[in-house]
Amino acid sequence: MDYQLLFDQYNAKQSGPKQSQQRRLYHCLRAAILRGQCKAGTVLPGSRSLAAELKISRNTVLYAYEHLVAEGLLCSGGRSTVVADSLPTFTSSVKDADIARPHTLSARARLTPWPSDPHGAFTAFMSGVPALSHFPIAVWRRCLERVWRTINHQQLDYADAAGEPILRAAIAEHLTGTRGVVCNAGQIFITDGTQQSLGICAHALAGVGDRAWIENPGYGGAFQSLKAAELNVRGIAVDVDGIAPTEKEWEKFTPKLIYTTPSHQFPLGSVMSIDRRIALIGSAKKYGAIIIEDDYDSEFRRDGPPLPAMQGLVADAPVIYLGTFSKTLFPALRIGYMVVPTGLVEPFAGMLKLGHLRGRSADQLALAEFLRAGHFAMHLKKMRRLYATRRDALVVAIDKHLGDVATIYGGSSGIHLSVGLPGLLNDVSISESAIAQGVYTQPLSRLATGKVLCNGLMLGYAQVHEREIEKYVRILAKIIHSH
Ligand SMILES: Cc1ncc(COP(=O)(O)O)c(C=O)c1O
Repeated sequence: MDYQLLFDQYNAKQSGPKQSQQRRLYHCLRAAILRGQCKAGTVLPGSRSLAAELKISRNTVLYAYEHLVAEGLLCSGGRSTVVADSLPTFTSSVKDADIARPHTLSARARLTPWPSDPHGAFTAFMSGVPALSHFPIAVWRRCLERVWRTINHQQLDYADAAGEPILRAAIAEHLTGTRGVVCNAGQIFITDGTQQSLGICAHALAGVGDRAWIENPGYGGAFQSLKAAELNVRGIAVDVDGIAPTEKEWEKFTPKLIYTTPSHQFPLGSVMSIDRRIALIGSAKKYGAIIIEDDYDSEFRRDGPPLPAMQGLVADAPVIYLGTFSKTLFPALRIGYMVVPTGLVEPFAGMLKLGHLRGRSADQLALAEFLRAGHFAMHLKKMRRLYATRRDALVVAIDKHLGDVATIYGGSSGIHLSVGLPGLLNDVSISESAIAQGVYTQPLSRLATGKVLCNGLMLGYAQVHEREIEKYVRILAKIIHSH
């Protein structure tokens, strides 16, 4: 055996995740054996002398030797350790390239996150996160405790692939009562949130290369899901009435799927007019497309009740309605749902049974209790008031400090609004400067799903105390004016 090679490999600069000394030595030896650099019958140095050569502890060497003996690559007889005569069968197919080749993501999984997520840390104007500090943890804990007191062992099994029937019924009641969705509990499928719902829809309803439309600018999570399903994604411009495909686009780029946020366009905040909704449904029927209606934050509409969901607007609308508890309760709950047309209930049930083994029944049952006992409605009422106060404070601060350059888009619903900036300002570099100062804004140009049509910033205000909002807008204004 060429010990120099082993030493060099052991001491080589590590790429990838840092390994313990034990694992490093084990991998070096293992690779040398599998590559044939350390031939069958070779007697390895004693643990003491190898430890001394490599300046590591003897236990580190013993660990590596023991693991390789357990794998059948080494034999430990008497006082010496020897490379096994016949290597285990799994090694016969291992080629040199297989050992060293780094693993990379497939092209469809190589998506571009923006911006790096501060994850868990408070950052002013981070969008998509509700006022976490206002969530009634004690009430939630009581709902969970009640469930765990009554749960039986049978309920620890894989759960119904469509979700807990009692939660599906509670959601159906909520949607028919507040959103004009026409459905029964059987049409509701519980998921781990909208992101999973989108993945399921993209996978189930379109084939590789099929055309999918998304608003431009639009929701990055949806864009990535459609891309990950290897669909041919086309960004369709939005106007004040929402997604605005032209007749030519319908004919030339006929979609199989259309992703849209009609209640509060993400990120510009327009509300799709009734006429546009009816026209979109009509064209979707004509061209055989399915609309994915992402109703992610309509519960917080402030200027009058939200327009009814597209799903219930027209009989037999080809619409899959998606909802989530990420904005109304908290994102880490990871519970969302899809409402599918009656004709798709059976196929979806079959597909989900095989492909998405469901569980976490206790969380679902607790959520059903939270809804049924009125806690959900109460929480929404409080949050609606809170978000209105914060939105108003933000609008006032923007007018005061940015009125000369910024145009406000949206804000009638949800927990974010956007500001448009003149084209000569670079929203990406403004956003990067702001992040460095603890103000997290998403540049609108990065939310382009095709040609860049907008320049500006998206501001989530749910988590920022109304008294602090002006302070952060001032920081932002200073950055913008310095650009
Ligand atoms: C447009 C839109 N839809 C849905 C969601 C929620 O997704 P999930 O339920 O996966 O948390 C978000 C979150 O930011 C969003 O912005």
